[in-house]
Amino acid sequence: MRDVLIRLEGVAKDYDTGGGIVRALRDVDLSIDHGEFVAIVGTSGSGKSTLMNILGCLDRPTRGTYTLADVEVGSRSNDARAIVRNRLVGFIFQGFNLLPRTTALENVELPLQYRGVSAKARRARAEKSLAAVGLQDRLDHTPNMLSGGQQQRVAIARALVTDPPLLLADEPTGNLDTRTSLEVLALLQRLNRDMGITVVLVTHEHDIAACASRVITFRDGYMVSDVRQEQPKDAARDLSELPPPQAYEAPKDDEAIVGTRKRTKIPFVVYMAMFGGGLLGNLAALVLNQIAGQPIPGVGGVFAILGEATFATWIARRRFKRRMSVDERVRVAIYYSLFQLLILAPVVAFVVLSKIPSSVTEFATAHTTLAVLACVAALAVLSLVRFVFLTVANSRLAR
Ligand SMILES: Nc1ncnc2c1ncn2[C@@H]1O[C@H](COP(=O)(O)OP(=O)(O)OP(=O)(O)O)[C@@H](O)[C@H]1O
Ligand SMILES: [Mg+2]
Repeated sequence: MRDVLIRLEGVAKDYDTGGGIVRALRDVDLSIDHGEFVAIVGTSGSGKSTLMNILGCLDRPTRGTYTLADVEVGSRSNDARAIVRNRLVGFIFQGFNLLPRTTALENVELPLQYRGVSAKARRARAEKSLAAVGLQDRLDHTPNMLSGGQQQRVAIARALVTDPPLLLADEPTGNLDTRTSLEVLALLQRLNRDMGITVVLVTHEHDIAACASRVITFRDGYMVSDVRQEQPKDAARDLSELPPPQAYEAPKDDEAIVGTRKRTKIPFVVYMAMFGGGLLGNLAALVLNQIAGQPIPGVGGVFAILGEATFATWIARRRFKRRMSVDERVRVAIYYSLFQLLILAPVVAFVVLSKIPSSVTEFATAHTTLAVLACVAALAVLSLVRFVFLTVANSRLAR
């Protein structure tokens, strides 16, 4: 059995602008049940705000009927609509609409003042409402002392303080960045799920609409589609998957200039992953050589470096929760090549010393400068090749 909260039948809204009639809404039939989370989308001027004003009893339809919680409000007088609005609707706007130079607590108390609630009860309810949006420690802050997201949360607390069954939000995240938008949305989703509040929200953003259980599209005043989403996105989960705030401040790939900013520390596990990847690459090369029946020149090196780059990028991506910057790739390539030349190679050579042809050691002792130069050249070439492989893996794997 459906539990209808909102019912519009043949609703139209015309504005007479003097120079002509603007048909802001045309013949809208719509019903919304208690507990739904509806997103209204559509191009600018398609009638979304007009619809919200009617739903919120701020305006009345030119034609058609609007029934809210079994009350036919569309044709009621302004005063009668104000009473219904005060009892049933909480409104949230893009611009927050808080009173300046008035504390969060006083802003939230305001709707209760209109209802004649006693000062003590007002304060208690406003405090509870602000706590519900996580602002219990900002009661005495005025709007100019609050961030955009916090101001919007005060506005949500104000909309909630009368315990309305319906929350209307006209682009509540329009003035907020991605993270803060998600925070506000997660809050609205929680209120919808936990308290059963019906939410109708206007948005221009796909990501926001994706969090609704139903998306209604308007065009030129007509309702052109009404789609239910079986599995709406969970804003709280999306929020938890965002990189931590400071990662936003880090310059992106191309902007990373060595020496002009604080360097990120590369976790040791990235180098270990490189080592592991290199071993696996060597193993793969061995198998390939076996299959070929003879050693294929160069395959060991290429496979090793490919394995290193793949594993290192993968681990770095998990650790940093973003791609590696140019600076980080350069450092990984150089440090790992140094490690290989200074530690790994001598150790291996020592363990299997007999495998080094005596001519090589004799040459190195006789021409020390040349030997050092050869090492430096090897370091440069190895680092460069590793950097190239890391860059390719970084762009392929890490997005
Ligand atoms: N008070 C008014 N007087 C005259 N015309 C109006 C009035 N309010 C809205 N309109 C017109 O009605 C149409 C619908 O406006 P509405 O504000 O509902 O659009 P919207 O979908 O909310 O757009 P946006 O995404 O830009 O907020 C527009 O063409 C607008 O110019
Ligand atoms: Mg609008």
